[in-house]
Amino acid sequence: MAGFEKSIDGKKVLVTGGTGSFGHQVTSMLLEHGPEEIIIFSRDENKQHHMRSEYNSPKLKFVIGDVRDYERVKEVTKNVDIIFHAAALKHVPYCEFHPYEAFKTNVVGAHNVKRAAIENDVQRLIAISTDKAVKPVNAMGMSKAMQEKLLLNNNGKESNTVISCVRYGNVIGSRGSVMPLFESKVKAGQPLPITSAKMTRFMLTLPQAINLVFYALQNANGGEIFVKKAPACRMVDFAQAYAEAITGKAGYPLEVVGVRPGEKIHEVLVAREEMHRAKEADDYFIIEPYKSFYTPVSENTDNAEEYGSNTTVQMPKQDILKLLKETKWID
Ligand SMILES: NC(=O)c1ccc[n+]([C@@H]2O[C@H](COP(=O)([O-])OP(=O)(O)OC[C@H]3O[C@@H](n4cnc5c(N)ncnc54)[C@H](OP(=O)(O)O)[C@@H]3O)[C@@H](O)[C@H]2O)c1
Repeated sequence: MAGFEKSIDGKKVLVTGGTGSFGHQVTSMLLEHGPEEIIIFSRDENKQHHMRSEYNSPKLKFVIGDVRDYERVKEVTKNVDIIFHAAALKHVPYCEFHPYEAFKTNVVGAHNVKRAAIENDVQRLIAISTDKAVKPVNAMGMSKAMQEKLLLNNNGKESNTVISCVRYGNVIGSRGSVMPLFESKVKAGQPLPITSAKMTRFMLTLPQAINLVFYALQNANGGEIFVKKAPACRMVDFAQAYAEAITGKAGYPLEVVGVRPGEKIHEVLVAREEMHRAKEADDYFIIEPYKSFYTPVSENTDNAEEYGSNTTVQMPKQDILKLLKETKWID
């Protein structure tokens, strides 16, 4: 990504939720450039301890804290140039059963990060959102939708801090993803659980997710939501392709188990109603902030369909296998 180094070189970068899947990958990719310091902020000391040993880098600083605690967030953002806000509760069923906890982390936490960023004159704050925030039906999606609204209120321009969000779908193999479950089921010779034969999901790799964040870091003016176009597939096809690659046999048994609390059959990355404000650029949609109270609706955008996991390009089997290889789930 040309010119990207300049956005990072010599900068102090804070990663909230830095011990998670996103945090690990962004840290590895940042360390290929020249940040002055990367601060990893999260609650659990064990994850921090492991990450410290794993990276063994003098550029990493580990800070224990909770995004729900404004004073702590204010302290950790002092002299920081860039924040990647990734700390979140992200499991749909758990947020569904504990919606107030999702609210405290995903909404109040984001509010604290924004307030502290503004207070400490942080240059850029890029927050990670999800397809589940679009037309949300579950507490997780609702809390992430509120996170977007709250961070981008006033078009991210109430201060010197440029605030933008990125949205993406399922990251293959990230913590809590379906891959470890599929792996253990195939090893045990048990059927792969599928929620519904129709279910589709957007799929991307962690490096693709991080590149979207870096793209946003470089191109944000404040108030945008950056969305990476991603291929999608039916989960049935994904499960079959994976099992076939591991066992060498077609037709591995699947078991339809039904949707979990709050789960959608299909996901949406850009809603039809957002298309009026969306610019299409190469592999991206950039949903721009409101420019005035009324947004003109052109014929083109009025007819534009939502960007959904069932309406976009569905990956053929060879593309699913390529993704699985890239992410090292198959050889
Ligand atoms: N993985 C996906 O498929 C996916 C898809 C779309 C969007 N996203 C978004 O990407 C972001 C990162 O996801 P991920 O996959 O990296 O998740 P993850 O692996 O579960 O990591 C979450 C991180 O947040 C920290 N955390 C949780 N609650 C916190 C709190 N209250 N205060 C401070 N830190 C807290 C966790 O550490 P402690 O528990 O130690 O605090 C951990 O470091 C999230 O915002 C998620 O919604 C993920």
